[in-house]
Amino acid sequence: MKQATIILSRDFTVGPVSDRMFGSFVEHMGSVIYNGIYEPGHPTADADGFRRDVLELVRELNLSVIRYPGGNFTSSYRWEDGVGPKELRPVRPDPAWKQIETNQFGLNEFMKWIRLVGAEPILTVNLGTRGIDAARDLLEYCNFAGGTYWSDMRKSHGVPEPYRVRTWCLGNELDGEWQVARKTAEQYGQLALETAKVMKWLDPDIEVVAVGSSSRQISTFPEWDRIVLEHVYEWADYLSIHHYIGKRENDTPTYLAMPLEMERHIEEAIAACDYVKGLLRSNKVMYLSFDEWNVWREPDVPYTPWQTGSPYDWVRFRMEDVLVFGSAMLTLLRRADRIRIACQSLLVNTIPLILTEKGGKAWRNPTFYPFLHVSRYGRGVVLRGLVDSPRYDTKTYTDVPVVDPAAVWNPEMEELSVFAVNRGEEPVVLALDLRDFPQLSFLEHHVVKHERLDAFNTAERPDEIAPRRGAGARVDGGRAEAVLDPYSWNVVRFRTRRA
Ligand code: AHR
Repeated sequence: MKQATIILSRDFTVGPVSDRMFGSFVEHMGSVIYNGIYEPGHPTADADGFRRDVLELVRELNLSVIRYPGGNFTSSYRWEDGVGPKELRPVRPDPAWKQIETNQFGLNEFMKWIRLVGAEPILTVNLGTRGIDAARDLLEYCNFAGGTYWSDMRKSHGVPEPYRVRTWCLGNELDGEWQVARKTAEQYGQLALETAKVMKWLDPDIEVVAVGSSSRQISTFPEWDRIVLEHVYEWADYLSIHHYIGKRENDTPTYLAMPLEMERHIEEAIAACDYVKGLLRSNKVMYLSFDEWNVWREPDVPYTPWQTGSPYDWVRFRMEDVLVFGSAMLTLLRRADRIRIACQSLLVNTIPLILTEKGGKAWRNPTFYPFLHVSRYGRGVVLRGLVDSPRYDTKTYTDVPVVDPAAVWNPEMEELSVFAVNRGEEPVVLALDLRDFPQLSFLEHHVVKHERLDAFNTAERPDEIAPRRGAGARVDGGRAEAVLDPYSWNVVRFRTRRA
């Protein structure tokens, strides 16, 4: 059997994993909100119209942050439409997704819902059609205690205490021609700077995310990032990065290798940040907010425009998507030194972790499981592994490691979790040299696999793809061996000190 080896030492670390690496994103898009997390009249809806079946699944994921309300939606959104008495809220056409926005779900509903989830909000302000005034009003509404126009308005809306929202995105993907009120890098850099200044003058405790390039493919990458950062470097806390992986060729080995492009994208975005750091002779390190990432495929349900809650990009992920999604998560972990925020996009419906039917069931898309595993076992310190894996070539990529791993050690719990995707059609022995952990013992081995790479979960067969127990690992002093099944996602866990 082929073998991949990894040497791991407690002294060679990438760094601690930020708690906010385990985030997601909900946008007013298709059926993410309406008929997703919010559906008054659904058999499981609570008094606020929140679907309890969805909430239960969301809670399982132990999300740290959730970004809201968009996305492209934000660039023409008037946040004031979504607060106050529901019967007075305007119904408007949303040009971003060609849908009817009823505004029955807005800021205060989101804040109520996210409290039930137990996560922290990240809010995006509209720097498309709007600007500094709308952003500062929203900040005042959210974070001022009272005694001002918008904070008293919040109180009159039944929210006596300020939300004290910490993290604010200064717009969304404003480099893209699909964006309402796209900007040039110069225009955006200037606007982001002035908005950041005013927002931080109003509330010095906040942190802000400047919009980086919307993708690696866009022709203005990484020039956009350089120009924007030259304006806003000393005021911004993060640069955003977005990356979606879609199967471009009908070739699974190529698809499975695509997270390598995501790795390159991260390196290039970091290089842009560090270039500007040098240019400005700054001492400040710019961190990345990976506030949209996911895999993507052609939707399973056609979209009907100008509806409310019509499924958009509604995708049942296949087993091969699980592997790519898992690799993408491990790619993020391996750059935990520079990525401080990450939001899987989107949480419910579209390209989600959770799928729903209007009036019907909610179930887990199979990408739910790698996310769950990393959120559950990936908190600690990422170890810098010395990896030697068998490799393969495709038409597009050469030298692709068959085994894609990441390791997180939790020193308080004395637990080590090794995550690994086997991209190959044959089993591989994963041989771990854990020389600093001589008292190692095996804890558990979780596997997600399916004999068909095109398998998926449905409302009727929600557990077609689900984690199962793996064959385990053989431990001998500071060495361990586990078998990774063909085309599988694995978590092999150890205790690093004898109980
Ligand atoms: O699918 C979500 C959308 O993708 C977001 O609105 C946008 O930011 C990105 O292009």
